[in-house]
Amino acid sequence: MNRLSYLFILMLLAVIMPSEAKKKKGSSVAPKGISERVDSLLQLMTLEEKIGQTVLFTSRWDVTGPVLRDGEEDAIKSGQCGNIFNAHTAEYTRKLQKMAVEETRLGIPLLFGYDVIHGHQTLAPISLGESASWDLELIEKSARMAAREAAACGLHWTFAPMVDIGRDPRWGRVSEGAGEDPYLGIEIAKARVKGFQGDDLADKETVLACVKHMAAYGAAQAGRDYNSVDMSERVLRETYLPAYKAAIDAGARTVMTSFNDLDGVPATANSFLLKDILRDEWGFDGMVVTDYTAINELIPHGVAKDEYDAGVLAMKAGVDMDMEGGIYMDHLKKAIENGDVAMEELDNAVRNVLALKFELGIMDDPYRYCDEEREKEEVLSAQNRETAYQMAAKSCVLLKNDNSALPINANEKVAVIGPLANSKRDLLGSWKAAGKPQSVQATILDAIIKNGGSENVTFSKGCDINTDNKAGFAKAIEQAKKADKVIMVMGEKWSMSGEAACRTNLDFPGVQPELIQEITALGKPVVLVFMTGRAMTIQKESESVDALLNVWYPGVEGGRAVADILYGKENPSGKLTMTFPRNVGQIPIFYSYKRTGRPFDPSKPKDTYKSRYLDVQNTPLFPFGYGLSYTQFEYSDITISNSELVSGNSIEVSVSVTNSGNYDGEEVVQLYIWDQVASVTRPVKELKGFKKVKINKGDTQKVNFTINEEDLKFYRKDMTFGAEDGQFTIYIGSDSDASNSVEFSLTGVKL
Ligand code: NOJ
Repeated sequence: MNRLSYLFILMLLAVIMPSEAKKKKGSSVAPKGISERVDSLLQLMTLEEKIGQTVLFTSRWDVTGPVLRDGEEDAIKSGQCGNIFNAHTAEYTRKLQKMAVEETRLGIPLLFGYDVIHGHQTLAPISLGESASWDLELIEKSARMAAREAAACGLHWTFAPMVDIGRDPRWGRVSEGAGEDPYLGIEIAKARVKGFQGDDLADKETVLACVKHMAAYGAAQAGRDYNSVDMSERVLRETYLPAYKAAIDAGARTVMTSFNDLDGVPATANSFLLKDILRDEWGFDGMVVTDYTAINELIPHGVAKDEYDAGVLAMKAGVDMDMEGGIYMDHLKKAIENGDVAMEELDNAVRNVLALKFELGIMDDPYRYCDEEREKEEVLSAQNRETAYQMAAKSCVLLKNDNSALPINANEKVAVIGPLANSKRDLLGSWKAAGKPQSVQATILDAIIKNGGSENVTFSKGCDINTDNKAGFAKAIEQAKKADKVIMVMGEKWSMSGEAACRTNLDFPGVQPELIQEITALGKPVVLVFMTGRAMTIQKESESVDALLNVWYPGVEGGRAVADILYGKENPSGKLTMTFPRNVGQIPIFYSYKRTGRPFDPSKPKDTYKSRYLDVQNTPLFPFGYGLSYTQFEYSDITISNSELVSGNSIEVSVSVTNSGNYDGEEVVQLYIWDQVASVTRPVKELKGFKKVKINKGDTQKVNFTINEEDLKFYRKDMTFGAEDGQFTIYIGSDSDASNSVEFSLTGVKL
């Protein structure tokens, strides 16, 4: 390079790179002017440097997929890798950041990503558990807590929220989402994005959100992870896409592709998803990253003959960053030289990556997230533990409580039995990020002892989670015989849900069901507390025990929260966000099914030629939206402001809810709508509103909802999105079985 051009570069660098003064800790960059700064930087970059910005490698600090290579540090220093995931702590990210800043020619800082799904170190309940709280404010608060901790540990980017609709509990990843329903999925997606990103990405308490997995990953055939997906465009748009879109509308700056193919095209090579829908229809201007080695997987998918081909397909489909696969690193240069990828396509990808680095403020202060002091204050702070506790207490779902088995009296003698009662690790669930079992201060057993006193509590494990060893049965039975009540803490091990953790048998594993039967046969009141990351098939157990409490994997403060519920210090208010089937053969089962042309009427059980099973009812064991409280809520009839909704107007519906029991409590009041006749078949019911209200014992609260044409829109016969005139039924109640109803008509819709 001649001197002149060298000087020119130095002048440009002065414009785009931080001055010493700007580098001071705490400085932030306003988002304006970012595209100009990105463009000036881009002009300085060689082809290799550009490609480096599209590369994301894992560090050795955590393993979240197949490990392909060593030497990520060399790749950073040589500028071949501009982004890292699975590295954290202020100290370690600083060390890696220094390599990028000091050892590469342009000193462009690294972006650090990690799967901070339900907390960084202060783990809240797994995401499906959080969704069962139906508490949007608290879910947002929990995401903000995760963001604050992650950012204090050097991270800029979380691979969350996972917004895939989950209707098949065999698929282990339902544990990471918000359940089966698009409406609730939208609301929770928005809350999580707001929590992670806040209003200002340059704020050091926020991190980039990553909406995943685009798209329809939750519909993997037969509930087997990474499997193929095929569905109509109507179902895709109506059920699966809305939550991704809502997250993007809420400002999510990154999107992750999914592993599955959709209608024959793998998502990572799918320009219909990544360009037509994401960019053109939704106006997304952020960055698209693949899932782990998803470009490489275009080869086994059978749409690319080799890595080169796979890289070209992905880049052309609109993928900006290659996670771990190394395909862009190894093949993009050649693809550009051959003209198979245009420089403009690469430039766009690099622009999308660099823009984020400017938005986060790391171009001006690369070390602003590596702050050991802040890390010490933030991680597992008392405030964070309190948020995790609240979230856990509000996520638990009481599914049965006969004979007032719960709450337990502090002076009752209890026998605690089960392999999950004294486990720290299982409380944390899958995707524990940087969470550590030793950060759990109390297991469920510890916290029960704290509530009931050691003189009133005995413990035996009884059996393992997943072996056929019954050696512990005898001691458990002995202890149960001596107790007033038995608390069994059973379920699935933390690793039985999450990624690559699918099951076809959704019963309690191992000999747990047998132990439950032996204990319930003693005739003592039995409370079954269970951990799970999915809906399970627990019909027999639900019939034989007196009380049933689903606690998911409740997080680092889960032991305390669960015991406080058992002893009545907290009143459960969680509601299922996923239907519990009676058996696996009913799957997929969800509340918003279509009626069919031959609906089965349970009052005419002898009817043949109806849509039904011979061996099991159509109805689930526990419906979507279901969950009990220690108190009782009574609903009045619904009042409606007008039985005709004229297009462009709105109507008000309300219901009065009375707490007629003996405890103050919270109720999730749910509103569903049935569109009786339309140009295409419509679900029997769709959630269109909910409110979580606190009602003290003896009090009555009026709960209002507004309904307008927007709530009634769907993909019509011609695939336009809109409402149609007609008759509708509104149901309001405490779960999706609600029958308390009122009708109205919609008129005047312009087609
Ligand atoms: C694969 C998972 O599908 C994805 O959700 C996760 O973010 C990445 N691995 C990175 O760990």
